[in-house]
Amino acid sequence: MNFPDYRARRMRRTDGLRRMVRETRLAVDNLSYPIFVIGGSGVEKPITSMPGQSVWSVDKAVDVAARAFDAGIPSVILFGIPDKKDATGSEAWSQNGVVQKAIRAIKKRCPDLVVMADSCFCEYTDHGHCGVLHEGLLDNDASLENLARTVLSYARAGVDIVAPSGMLDGFVTACRESLDEEGFEQVAIMAYSAKYASGYYGPFRDAVDSAPQHGDRRGYQMDPSNGAEAVREVVLDVGEGADIVMVKPALAYLDIVRMVADEVNLPIACYNVSGEYAMIEAAAAQGWIDRDRIVMETLTAMRRAGSDIIITYHAMLAAKLLR
Ligand code: PBG
Ligand code: ZN
Repeated sequence: MNFPDYRARRMRRTDGLRRMVRETRLAVDNLSYPIFVIGGSGVEKPITSMPGQSVWSVDKAVDVAARAFDAGIPSVILFGIPDKKDATGSEAWSQNGVVQKAIRAIKKRCPDLVVMADSCFCEYTDHGHCGVLHEGLLDNDASLENLARTVLSYARAGVDIVAPSGMLDGFVTACRESLDEEGFEQVAIMAYSAKYASGYYGPFRDAVDSAPQHGDRRGYQMDPSNGAEAVREVVLDVGEGADIVMVKPALAYLDIVRMVADEVNLPIACYNVSGEYAMIEAAAAQGWIDRDRIVMETLTAMRRAGSDIIITYHAMLAAKLLR
């Protein structure tokens, strides 16, 4: 059918017509809210490079989680900032670590909120890399042993989903075996399968003080130039037993989200990261863009690209706008 028999504008004429033919829907069910947890009590520390976001002590993190739950958001993802860092990041698997405490407290207050825990070592190591180093380089298999300990400690605290994020080869297998051996076969794994070495993580690293002290993460995170490799990474994680696969960052990688969604038949997550949040907030604060409109457009684009789950610092705002 061609013009003038077909006129594309006919179905755009009114709001009702547009609603009838709308292809993509963003719902509060698609959102997940990240929460940063630190020691102490009564602490709310605003993150300068992420206006509107803060680091919270466990007691306050529980309130934030409850607010997310009340807003209809089905899940939160926790990040920990430990009291002390060391070469192996051993606080990560301490049963009394901030994330373990937060998991217990949040599940007690909101049993029906899905609690996920980012599982990595960069916030916990004094050198800021995502695992143990051997001669200055990330020792993959030694780091996997510590990852196995860490996810187990989260499972013991009552986590619903662990989210290994260090881009270690074999990290899903290491998590699955460790969880199953101890009877946690119901704990799910969301794999940061295609995580790029990205400049968009800048504000996050300020927030959790996890910038590498030397070198960078290009030896384990992916080269932004690569797409086919992302599919390869995802397929490997599916084979190892991932329950959800993730692409990260989101906005500059929507082509990757689409490729992955076409390739695998599992729920797809994307991470709308700190730098993406900061860009919108900075421009909105200047009055250069309409924050609410840009947030909804951006999150809808992530859905359109194929993500089922969107981890976003704008989750609370989007939940409010979706009411
Ligand atoms: C580290 C980790 C990163 C993020 C979450 N977990 C990135 C990194 O520093 O390499 C980024 C989140 C964000 O920027 O919002 N494993
Ligand atoms: Zn890391």
